[in-house]
Amino acid sequence: MKLSQRIPSSWIRGILPLLAFLSLIFFCSLSQTRLVAEEIDPEEDDYPPGLLATYKAGGKEIQRIDADIAFDWGKQAPLPQLPDGNFTADWTSLILVKQPGEYQLSAYLVGEVKVEIDGKTVLEGKRETPGWIVGPKYEQNFGEFELQVSYKKTAPEARLQLFWSSNLFGLEPIQSNILYREAGSPEVAQIWRGRTHFDAHRCNRCHQRSGQATSPAAPDLTHVTTALNPEWLVRKIQNDDAIAAHAKMPFFGFNQQEAESIAAYLYANAKNASLKKIPAPKKDKKQRKRPPAMKNSGPAKS
Ligand code: HEC
Repeated sequence: MKLSQRIPSSWIRGILPLLAFLSLIFFCSLSQTRLVAEEIDPEEDDYPPGLLATYKAGGKEIQRIDADIAFDWGKQAPLPQLPDGNFTADWTSLILVKQPGEYQLSAYLVGEVKVEIDGKTVLEGKRETPGWIVGPKYEQNFGEFELQVSYKKTAPEARLQLFWSSNLFGLEPIQSNILYREAGSPEVAQIWRGRTHFDAHRCNRCHQRSGQATSPAAPDLTHVTTALNPEWLVRKIQNDDAIAAHAKMPFFGFNQQEAESIAAYLYANAKNASLKKIPAPKKDKKQRKRPPAMKNSGPAKS
């Protein structure tokens, strides 16, 4: 006896539309989950990208995340909140080595640097003028290793760019796509997120820092914390007055979290405007000198 003969056809006819309906719902829900793009937050990774950096100068210490080690600080402090003059910087991260081989690290340097991979010193040197230092060739296994870099400014200028080469590839920068860190403090991570938004949206195309040759198309944001209240700042970054006739700043469509990250980044890089103390005039009129030129003479122009 055939199976179809055992099941009454009217029963099948009754259940078919229901089956069709159920499978329609099933496929709809499937395609829905595929269509809704997942929000990827690299901070939720066990090992988010970048290096954890600690900058120290004049008794002040600041932590932040750097994508890689390629800096030409010149005569300026590495961060606006740090005083000018000598500073130290330490980076820790994991470095991913994809192939084993004979490796060699190099740096373009002004100052003093020491690089360790898994506790082993692979580059060490000092330069008073810009130039290369080259480490010894060494056998490097593949895998993830602890990277530790210590830098000290020792000359009027500061510069550090890290490179490596091996028997498998020529000299190239140690790039951000092989550097990972252990998830650090949420504040440091938030500022990092803001910085990547700031760079990705090229805010500094218009918001240039002072000391740059071209005239800024928009206010320097260094002193933004002196004049602006944080809530307003977040609203401004979301640009709720983009339709106003005077608005020149583009609308980026940031959500609250993104705007807050950028505001946190701006705060983390802000400088308090302060007037230099003008020395009291000396009594002897002949010896009186003009007061030194004022630095940071007020909040940014807008
Ligand atoms: C195309 C140029 C341009 C770009 C790109 C741009 N801005 Fe602006 N921004 C301006 C101009 C012009 C002003 C001043 C006029 C105004 O407020 O609209 C301004 C003002 C601001 C202010 C207020 C500053 C003050 O002192 O009043 C903040 C904060 C700000 N921008 C943040 C950002 C951030 C963050 C980004 C990147 C996500 C960005 N801007 C990208 C042009 C730009």
